[in-house]
Amino acid sequence: MKGDATMTISPIFAKVRAGEDLTQDEIIFLLSITDSEEKEKIFNLAEELTIKYLGPEIHLRGIIEFSNYCSRNCNYCGLRLDNSKLVRYRMQPEEIVECAEKIADLGLKTVVLQSGEDFWYTKDMIRDIISEIKKRTDLAITLSLGERKYEELKVWREAGADRYLLKQETVNQSIFAEIKPDSVYEERFGILKQLADLGYQVGSGGMIGLPGQTVSDLADDLIYIRENPVGMAGFGPFISHGDTPYSSLSNGDGELALLLLAVARIVLKKVFLPATTALETLVVDGRKKAIKAGANVIMPNMTPINYRKLYEIYPNKAQTTLDEVVDLIKSIGRVVGKGHGNTLI
Ligand code: 5AD
Ligand code: SF4
Repeated sequence: MKGDATMTISPIFAKVRAGEDLTQDEIIFLLSITDSEEKEKIFNLAEELTIKYLGPEIHLRGIIEFSNYCSRNCNYCGLRLDNSKLVRYRMQPEEIVECAEKIADLGLKTVVLQSGEDFWYTKDMIRDIISEIKKRTDLAITLSLGERKYEELKVWREAGADRYLLKQETVNQSIFAEIKPDSVYEERFGILKQLADLGYQVGSGGMIGLPGQTVSDLADDLIYIRENPVGMAGFGPFISHGDTPYSSLSNGDGELALLLLAVARIVLKKVFLPATTALETLVVDGRKKAIKAGANVIMPNMTPINYRKLYEIYPNKAQTTLDEVVDLIKSIGRVVGKGHGNTLI
């Protein structure tokens, strides 16, 4: 379904500036725009709204990809269980905590602990890592550990974890079943609600360019986030990985991913939106363009260098140093967030 042919952007912009919610058709209309001048207007509005709602700060989150073992077989992802070509690694708990200390020493305020779904790390191990990081630093902690049990999420929250990322990837249930054959849509969504109930700041999001996905599906992704207690949402283009069942699929459209980010800002208002690494990987100057299109978070990769290339969820993953990111933020007249950068939802 395409947007209504009689729609124009001016009345939609007026609605947005008045703080009104857009309809699904209006969102589809914005996502279907191809004219570069009109797209520029959307990017400008998105940056204007970002500063109005959230200020000029770009929040930095140092990410530690601490294990590339995964028990699942998502068809798009290089970390999938059946990818026997990947050399696997696990960081020891003390190594993770020391890496977090380095992140704090660099002046960052958040650490993101991410891994495949790796049950080698038990409830108590993760709890102890969280407590130790909280004891040694004043970092906010974001977990991104996949679908874990309520009891684990509860214990980790009590130990001091602040946020949890669990992207739905797509809200189109048949695409979800196709791309994540061993996950159950409703269960994953249920965990999102549990996380919110436990008081986590919750992150969702998805990919652009999945098999069979339309702009109408992307509009549904945004509406789902608007309607649920989601404080942050990461969207990036799908990137084909040679050692997965999706090796022959085309990459997602980087330009559409950028437009989706801007429309996400317009639709989701105060939700935190990262400039994703996938976008930086596919689009030249993708991070800069993302900030100029509504992103307010960057996640510099702080994984120890010897493991970094092994966390290959997709090929040629962009790498940007902390210094480069800070210079970039300053060069476009924005500032690095000094506080923890807690989400507002
Ligand atoms: N292309 C783009 N993004 C991917 N992710 C995983 N595999 C790919 C891929 N092939 C994203 C997913 C996941 C996050 C860790 O990385 O959105 O949630
Ligand atoms: Fe594992 Fe996550 Fe990759 Fe799925 S997307 S295979 S759960 S690391």
